[in-house]
Amino acid sequence: MVAHLYVHIPFCPKICPYCSFYKEVGRRELVRPLLDGILREAEREAAGLRPVTIFFGGGTPTALSTSQLEELITGLRQRIDFSALSEFTLEMNPATVSLEKATALRALGVNRVSMGVQSWSDRHLQALGRVHSAAQARRSFGILREAGFENLNLDLMFGIPGQSAADWESSLRTTMELGPEHISAYCLTYEEDTEYFRRFQNGEFAPDEERDVEFFETAMRCLPQAGYSQYEISNHARPGRECLHNLAYWNGCDYVGLGPSAFSTRDGVRRRNVCDTRAYAGRILSGVSAADFVEEVPPELRVVEKNAFALRTRSGVSASNLPMDKVRQLVLEGLLILEDGRAVLTEKGKLVADAVAAELI
Ligand SMILES: C[S@@+](CC[C@H](N)C(=O)[O-])C[C@H]1O[C@@H](n2cnc3c(N)ncnc32)[C@H](O)[C@@H]1O
Ligand code: SF4
Repeated sequence: MVAHLYVHIPFCPKICPYCSFYKEVGRRELVRPLLDGILREAEREAAGLRPVTIFFGGGTPTALSTSQLEELITGLRQRIDFSALSEFTLEMNPATVSLEKATALRALGVNRVSMGVQSWSDRHLQALGRVHSAAQARRSFGILREAGFENLNLDLMFGIPGQSAADWESSLRTTMELGPEHISAYCLTYEEDTEYFRRFQNGEFAPDEERDVEFFETAMRCLPQAGYSQYEISNHARPGRECLHNLAYWNGCDYVGLGPSAFSTRDGVRRRNVCDTRAYAGRILSGVSAADFVEEVPPELRVVEKNAFALRTRSGVSASNLPMDKVRQLVLEGLLILEDGRAVLTEKGKLVADAVAAELI
């Protein structure tokens, strides 16, 4: 039984030049088709589901108005059994948070918010093309607490052009002082088909792997001091505040995704909906599948994928699933430890997680 639901809302107040998620800006005429499409797709793909976790991601779900979000969540409740729901996360951009919207979402059952702060320096926020200031992000955090949210994640980025080690440490300290329950710390990546990628290729940004490693180590050193445990390479949580939805992905659980560009993996088949809101709604509303990419995931490949994700987590991978000679070698090199029969990355191993995974999986 599928227990995890993802809903993609592809709207943003402004496009950030580094971001490769499917999103649209200022397309009001697409809101109606999107809402109708998602609700119809829920009837078709998610009826009979009893989700334990729901994740509204994007884009920026709060780019929708309060009444649009109410219509969508109420409509989903009418079509899907919410009685087993334990975690309902919604992503927000600090510029789209108001007390009215946050209070309404809390009342609609949203119990976790993930907000993209990225940095507490206005200079870096400008470099990233963000639509909000640091002060606005701080106000939004206060509004979310005032609205009763007790489970908050803040996204941060490191490796931002012009960011020094001291800047990064200061961003971490400011975040820890605010005390969200969860912190995601991502290294800026230059994704194809983004403005940042073009600028990177033109030589405007110089890659500096050593500096990125140093930033990553700073996060691993600072965050535990404030009670955050690194339960996945980029994710740190207070005890019991790990994101259940993401843990389900990393544990290879099936999930259903609704909305343009959303992936679903179910019964050995992976599908991705078309990355175009009008085409998505047109297909769904005329009774045609919205998927433009479908692949079978045979059991052996599922195990490989599951191990690759699990290796990035604190619980690691059962060593019995791995080639023992390679495991022993990596243990000798100080990149892995064996804990209760599981292979777990050491601090040194986390710095080269992709290379370790390539050796093992
Ligand atoms: C969908 S966005 C979060 C919500 C909202 N749209 C926002 O930006 O505030 C998901 C997160 O992915 C991260 N992200 C996006 N593009 C990235 C990139 N190129 N490199 C590293 N992190 C990235 C950012 O931290 C961002 O907050
Ligand atoms: S980072 Fe967030 S706000 Fe910026 S374009 Fe991507 S999804 Fe939209």
